[in-house]
This record gives sequence, structure tokens and C-alpha cells, in this order.
Amino acid sequence: MPVQIIVGAQWGDEGKGKIVDHLSEKVDIVARYQGGANAGHTVVLPPLKGGSEREFVLHLIPSGIFHPRVKCVIGNGVVIDPKALLEEITMLRSAGIDIRGRLFISHNAHLIMPYHKKLDSIREQGEQKIGTTGRGIGPSYIDKYMRTGIRVVDLLDRDVLCKKLKFNIEEKNELLRKVYNAEELDLDAIINEYQEFDKEIDEYVTDTARYLSEALRKGKKILAEGAQGALLDVDHGTYPFVTSSNPTSGGACTGLGIPPTSVTDVLGVVKAYSTRVGNGPFPTELNDEMGERLRSIGGEYGATTGRPRRCGWLDLVSLRHSIMVNGISRIAITKLDVLDDFDEIQVCTAYLVDGKPIDHFFTDVQTLERVKPVYKTYRGWKTPTSGVRSYRNLPRRARKYLEALQRSLKVKISMVSVGARRDQTLIVR
Ligand code: IMP
Repeated sequence: MPVQIIVGAQWGDEGKGKIVDHLSEKVDIVARYQGGANAGHTVVLPPLKGGSEREFVLHLIPSGIFHPRVKCVIGNGVVIDPKALLEEITMLRSAGIDIRGRLFISHNAHLIMPYHKKLDSIREQGEQKIGTTGRGIGPSYIDKYMRTGIRVVDLLDRDVLCKKLKFNIEEKNELLRKVYNAEELDLDAIINEYQEFDKEIDEYVTDTARYLSEALRKGKKILAEGAQGALLDVDHGTYPFVTSSNPTSGGACTGLGIPPTSVTDVLGVVKAYSTRVGNGPFPTELNDEMGERLRSIGGEYGATTGRPRRCGWLDLVSLRHSIMVNGISRIAITKLDVLDDFDEIQVCTAYLVDGKPIDHFFTDVQTLERVKPVYKTYRGWKTPTSGVRSYRNLPRRARKYLEALQRSLKVKISMVSVGARRDQTLIVR
């Protein structure tokens, strides 16, 4: 198993952080391949002597960092906000987690600059808003593809940094002044701030594509960690209500510089129901008391922005699309315990479009906004599952629910999570 890719199969927030933490035990390297500090991966660690459980939210550094033996890579496909990265490094250090010699940051990763965040928030005030996280992700990828972006490697040379920044700031200031009537940015302040970052992150910067290639040559096991989810993919998601990168499995190859032939397995993480943050179509959304129940039991508030997540039933039609574009070979179901108390659980098996049943997904929002979900109803198990420690000890109706999903999706469920803690992970043999 040289490279295993782990992807979110819905609209993000499936609980990938916990699953990556679990799988990290058996790998040598965990490598993040796209997105930026728009992601929030939560990991709950057992208490230290006499203390209580420790919860960490990571935005950039892979969740594998909590396993001292594991090396972590932030790949070229990620857009790095140095401020967010430094906060994370400081948080890990103060928790006693040693990252020296374990964290490798791609010299080719693009940086998020103050003007990216400013432009992101200004655009979100306009009519075209899509409900971004406001972390400057889209504007940073715009510069990457305009070939005017600033990369980690540029921090190392003051002259190069000044030249590139000068061009960018002049351009952005004109935009801010003329188009948005907003306050301009100060070049010197930004240069000084970003040169400080260089001193802090210099020791971690490397050619990560070469590092990973060497690791593969030595037979090391790599876990490629995606952020967000397949339905937020800029190519395969519900455009334009998507993020600006490729969370789908193909993004792992370009975002890390690993060859497709090294990938042996794609694990899709699926929450037992659906959530979405930000705008865009959501066929199984529940705008009623049931949705409210899912939100409050599931603690469905954004780990990055704190926004309440939109909640709804599981949507097998969108999952079939996700399985198709990612090549998902195994599924991990998360947050099953959230459904413990429901009398009935609904699952969307098809869409009705103009009265006709359709079993495939639509990525054009014009159609997706019109579809009506067709539901199959399952009886709830009405038994707590968070204390269950093996798959066969799950309530019979919970297993029936999972087995029905497996049959319908034609992909094996290999893991079921019944809580945020490490020991609340059931392996399906
Ligand atoms: P952006 O990635 O901040 O540009 O936001 C674009 C869309 O992706 C918005 O709908 C966000 O709410 C959504 N999004 C970005 N990151 C995440 C995430 O980690 N989880 C869930 N949704 C996300």
C-alpha cells in the first residue's frame, strides 16, 4: 500500500481528521494535498495523567502529527496562510508535540497574503457571494493560475519577495481603490511581516515532491489527506458553490507530485447524514425541527468559522457521484451515534426531476436546485452506540442500515465511528 488517499465524500466536515489520526498508526507519512486554512480537522486525544481529554483543531498541518513516528507534509497544492500556520505550530509546541524534523512544507506551495483575505471578504459582500470561509482561498488560487502568485520559496530571497509583492500590491491597490472603493494596503508592512514568517518556517521548507518520491522508493507508506469534500471540488462539485481546489482523489497527485500509479486505495469518509456550510444546492436539506435536531446532537457548527452547518439526510445519489469521480474503494462512516435517538432515519435513493426518477447526480446547479429527493425510510435503533467497541455489537437495526448503504453504493464499509475519541472506531472485518 504505497499511497492511500483519504477524501471527504460529501460537502466536507465528514470527520476526516479523526479517521486520518486513526489510520496514521500504520503509515510513515501523512501528506495534505490541497485547500488551506479553510479546513478544520478535529482530533480528540486521550487525557494525559490526571487530566481531561484534549481536543485539537488543525487547519493546515495533517492530523498525523499526533503520532510521534509519523512525518507530515504540506504539499505544493496547498495554499498557506503563514499566520495560521505559525499559530498551529505554536499550539502544537505548547501541547508538547515535537514537530522538529517531522514537518515538511513544499517550497512550491502558494502563500495567502493579506490582500487575498481582504478581497475574499469584499467579494462575499456582493451579489455573487457563495458563503466562503473568508480565508482568502479563492483569491490566492486566482493568483496561482494567473502566474502572479507568491510561493513559499519566494520568502527566502528578499529581493524576489519585494519585486513580486510590489507588483501584486500595486495591482490589488488599484482594484481595491477603483472597483471596491476600499482602503489600500501598505507594501512595507507586508514585506516585514512576511520576512518574519520566513525565519520561523525556514527549517521546514523543502522540495516535498522529491521527499515523497524518495520515500516511495524506500517502500514507505503514505497517506494523502484531502480537505473539504468531493462535492466542493472546483471541477466535480456543485460549481460555483465550491472551493477553489480539487479535494477529489486526482488532486492528490497534482497537489503532492506523486504518480497515479503509486495509489493503491481511496478511502471515502461519509457522515451518516449530510451537512453543508455556505451557499449552494442541498437536495436533502431539512429546514425543520429534524434538521435542528441533527445540528444540535451532531454539534454541527463549523470548526473554522463557527457557522451553523445546514443539515439533512444522507444522499446516496450524490455519494454515487463521489464514488465515481474519486474511485472510492472503501468507506468510513462517521457520526453514526448522532442517529441513535431517531425513530426513523431517511435515506435519499433517487431524485425526481420533472416527475421522473433519476439515479445520477447533477453538477449543474440549475438542475440540482430543482430535484426532489426520493426517500427510503429505516426504523431507528433507539439504543446508544457510543459505548459499542465492535461492529458486531452494534444494534441489529444499525447494522441493517449500514449494510443497506453498502449494498446500494456497491462499496465496502470498512470503518464505523461512533464518537470523537480514538477508541470509538469500529473496524468492519
Ligand atoms: P472557500 O473554500 O473558503 O473559498 O469557500 C468555498 C465554499 O467551500 C464555501 O461554501 C465554504 O463554506 C466551503 N468550505 C470551505 N472549506 C470547507 C470545509 O473545510 N468544510 C466545509 N465546507 C468548506
